[in-house]
Amino acid sequence: MAENIIFVGKLIHTPSLGTLEIEDATVGVHQSKIVFLAKSVTDETIHLAKSHHMLKNAKVQILKPSQFFFPGFIDTHIHAPQYPNAGFGIDVPLLKWLEKYTFPLESSFRNLDKALEIYYRIVTRTLAYGTTFASYFSSLHAPASALLAELCFLFGQRAYIGKCNMNTLSPPHYCEKSSESSIEATNVLVSFMSQLDPERKIVSPIVTPRFAPSCTKDLLQSCGKFAATHGLPIQTHVSENPGEIALVREMFPDRKSYTDVYDHYNLLTPKTILAHGVYLEDEEIETIYKRQSGISHCPTSNAVLASGMANVRKLLNAGVKVSLGTDVSGGYTPNMLVAIRQAALTSRSLASVLKDPRIILELPELLYLATQGGAEVLGRGREVGSFEEGKDWDALVIDVSSQNNSPIDIYEHDSWEHILSKWVFNGDDRNIAQVWVNGKLIAGTECKIEDISPVSLNLASLYMDTAISTEKKSLRLREILESFTKTKLLPVTQCVNDGKVHAKPWKHTDENEDYRKTNSVERKRFLRST
Ligand code: GUN
Ligand code: FE
Repeated sequence: MAENIIFVGKLIHTPSLGTLEIEDATVGVHQSKIVFLAKSVTDETIHLAKSHHMLKNAKVQILKPSQFFFPGFIDTHIHAPQYPNAGFGIDVPLLKWLEKYTFPLESSFRNLDKALEIYYRIVTRTLAYGTTFASYFSSLHAPASALLAELCFLFGQRAYIGKCNMNTLSPPHYCEKSSESSIEATNVLVSFMSQLDPERKIVSPIVTPRFAPSCTKDLLQSCGKFAATHGLPIQTHVSENPGEIALVREMFPDRKSYTDVYDHYNLLTPKTILAHGVYLEDEEIETIYKRQSGISHCPTSNAVLASGMANVRKLLNAGVKVSLGTDVSGGYTPNMLVAIRQAALTSRSLASVLKDPRIILELPELLYLATQGGAEVLGRGREVGSFEEGKDWDALVIDVSSQNNSPIDIYEHDSWEHILSKWVFNGDDRNIAQVWVNGKLIAGTECKIEDISPVSLNLASLYMDTAISTEKKSLRLREILESFTKTKLLPVTQCVNDGKVHAKPWKHTDENEDYRKTNSVERKRFLRST
């Protein structure tokens, strides 16, 4: 339960690009929000916090000298169904990789038992790594995507969740029949998620045209319209790999560039997340800036798939919002610390190749990209990403002591700047003692059974119970969810936009034979270019 707490201890954050604050602080949290913040710890600040009218009877949590508060990580680009492939399959470039590893795995998410198993793992794993907010691509299946939304909501991880819109060039068994059926399925997911979290505070749907090559012009147009009508964010991929860019040029000869394809269909908004942007031309960067869309820099994936090195400095200098994504399973891990390290090293390699040291991203900038930068790209910069009165308490307690078999060795002469840097380059989930989201303690090595909400506990014990079939687990999950929300949720198969029951259960359309035939010419083109 969120309650009133006064936190006392070292606080580290990057409220703006390049600004690093390391201070002792007294922070008062009322339910989910920071209502008091003093950048010092004295008897007076603690007294002031205790006498704050919203912090009556607050508990006081004092950090150990080896601990500090840090904002929760924000992963702005991650593919939840690809998690089982994280760590292998790096022998081929992007388009071949999609065909060989990614589409076959994602297509299996029509099976909800499998989805439950894998989505449980990715949500608990990312929480252990300190990701308090993730923008997830799921598969193209609305029911499995709804399951991911349920899990994020129950565990309390903030998430954008988008089912992929993809109606062309994909394998017949993993492709939507038409732009109408793709939008209909999106509508189903949006309706379901609107019941789950009407305020979109913890989980929000996001319109997810996978990338230009997997969408017809009709579908791109419909996605732009749908996002505008429902006030939803948008996520997609842009300019990741030379083969992909050539394919886009061939498919959309009337458009000036890859970015222009999205701009033409009204997909570039202040709430659009564009993953990668490795090869953007100046004019494209200018368009992205004008539209106030953001980039999710995914350096681990770009290295693994040998896609290239994005020049983040150039994007930042142009005023474009930039954040970080793990891009699992192009990226081999959902650990955001690894994304930060790889962003550091990529900027250094690029600086050396281009003989321009200004390209190097320094630690305060990297930490900004992983926190406040992410919040800005997700359009939630006023709510999360740093510590400020009025913002939500989404925080990690990092512990650099040697307990818990910590991989970090600290010496007496180490300054806090050194400690921070050692954590970034050597730390892992063993150092994440507590994970707070929206004022609730939900994960971390110090998070004890009695700290976890009864819902998460129920979920954890359900998941661990090997005697129960996965099918029964799905049903139990629904019961837990309904007791949590205290509403009878319409099954996802019956959701439509107005919340009324659909006459026919929603049915996935990938068995359509006619479609297989009509799609085959375009598919050959895709396979040729992979
Ligand atoms: N482009 C289209 N789909 C994908 C995907 O799943 N991963 C990456 N890295 N790029 C993509
Ligand atoms: Fe991706």
